[in-house]
Amino acid sequence: MDNKPIYVTMPSLAPLEEFNEILKGVWDRGILTHNGPLVQQFEKDLCKKLDVPHFVAVTNGTIAIQMAIKALELKGEIITTPFTWIATVSAIMWEGCTPVFCDIDPGTLNIDPSKIEALITDKTVAILPVHVFGNPCDVDAIKAIADKHGLKVIYDAAHAIGSSYKGKSMLAYGDISATSLHATKLLNTAEGGGCITNDSALAEKLKRIRFFGHNDVKDIVEDGFNGKMTEVHAALGIANLKYYDEVLADRKEKYRIYKNLLSKNNSLAFQTHCVGEPNYSYFPVIFDSEKILIKVEEKLNQNNIYPRRYFYPSVNTYTKIIDYKTCPVSEEISRRILCLPLYWKLKINCIEKVVLIINNTIF
Ligand SMILES: Cc1ncc(COP(=O)(O)O)c(C=O)c1O
Repeated sequence: MDNKPIYVTMPSLAPLEEFNEILKGVWDRGILTHNGPLVQQFEKDLCKKLDVPHFVAVTNGTIAIQMAIKALELKGEIITTPFTWIATVSAIMWEGCTPVFCDIDPGTLNIDPSKIEALITDKTVAILPVHVFGNPCDVDAIKAIADKHGLKVIYDAAHAIGSSYKGKSMLAYGDISATSLHATKLLNTAEGGGCITNDSALAEKLKRIRFFGHNDVKDIVEDGFNGKMTEVHAALGIANLKYYDEVLADRKEKYRIYKNLLSKNNSLAFQTHCVGEPNYSYFPVIFDSEKILIKVEEKLNQNNIYPRRYFYPSVNTYTKIIDYKTCPVSEEISRRILCLPLYWKLKINCIEKVVLIINNTIF
C-alpha cells in the first residue's frame, strides 16, 4: 500500500471524457445558465431515478433550505436539531426565523421526536429535522406532531440522497426536502443542491424564487434571489448520475466491512438505524471519551489518515451567533464522534489499515 494521504472523503467522479462529452454541448449552445437544457435534463433524470415528482436544482444545499423556508412563507420559530452542520441553522436565521433546538436521540443521532412537543409555542411555524449521515428520521412521528399542531415540515436532506423509507426516497418526505449536491455528497455537482416537493404549485413557486422572483413574463411576483444551477454544474451531475447506483452499492458494502471489523471492539458505539434504509454515506464511530477520540485521531494522522470530527461542536454552542440553550445529548455525542474515511474509490486495505490503527490504539 502506498502512503498517499487518506481523507475522510473524496468526490465520486465520472470519467473526465464523459464529462467533457456533455460539456461540448454546452460550448456549442453557448448557454451557461438560466434554466438551460442540461439543468432541465438533470432535474428530469433525478425525478426518474428517485421517483419524486419535482426536483428544483439550485446552487447549493444551504440555499435550498432557505428557499424552502421562503416558499412556505414561514416567519417565527423553527424547531431543529443542534447535531448538524451550521448551514441548517444559518439558513433558518437568514430567513429571519428563530432556531429552537431540540435534542437528539443518542442512537439514531437524529432529532428526538419525543422532545419536540414540549418546545412548541404559539410562535412555532415548522419543524426542520436533518437525516443525519443519511439515517432516515422517524418521519411518521414527526408528521403526526406537525399535523396535530398545524406546522410545516422541511427536511434537511443534505446527506440523504439514496436513503429511503417504505420504498420511497427520503427526499419525498416533508412539505419540502432540501438536499445538497456538494462535492462530498453521494451524488455531486461540485456545488449544488435541490428542493424536492410533491406539490406542483410549490415547485413552480420554488422555480420563481430561484430566478429572482420572476414569473414567465418577467414580472417580479416573489421575494426571490439567485439560486440557479449552472449548465456546467448540471453537466457534472448528469455525468455522475450514471454511476449513482454503483456508488450507493459501494458505500453499503464498505460500511458493512467497517462495521464487521470494528464490531469486535467493545469500546466503540455506532449510529443506530431504526427507520428505513440509510445510504451509508458516512461511517461515524462514537468513542467512550473525547480523550480517546483525540488519541485515535492523532494516531491516524501520524499514518497520513485524516478522519473528521463531524458534527463538532454541537451547533447550539456557537454562542457568537446563537443564544445558547443546553442540549446535553448532542453536546456529549459531538465531543466523542469521528467520521472515518469512506468514499467510492477507497481501497479495502485502507479500511483494514484504519481499523487496525483504531484497534491497536484503544484495545
Ligand atoms: C446537514 C447539512 N445541511 C446543510 C448543508 C449545506 O449544504 P451545502 O454545502 O450544499 O450548502 C450541509 C453541508 O454539508 C450539511 O451537512
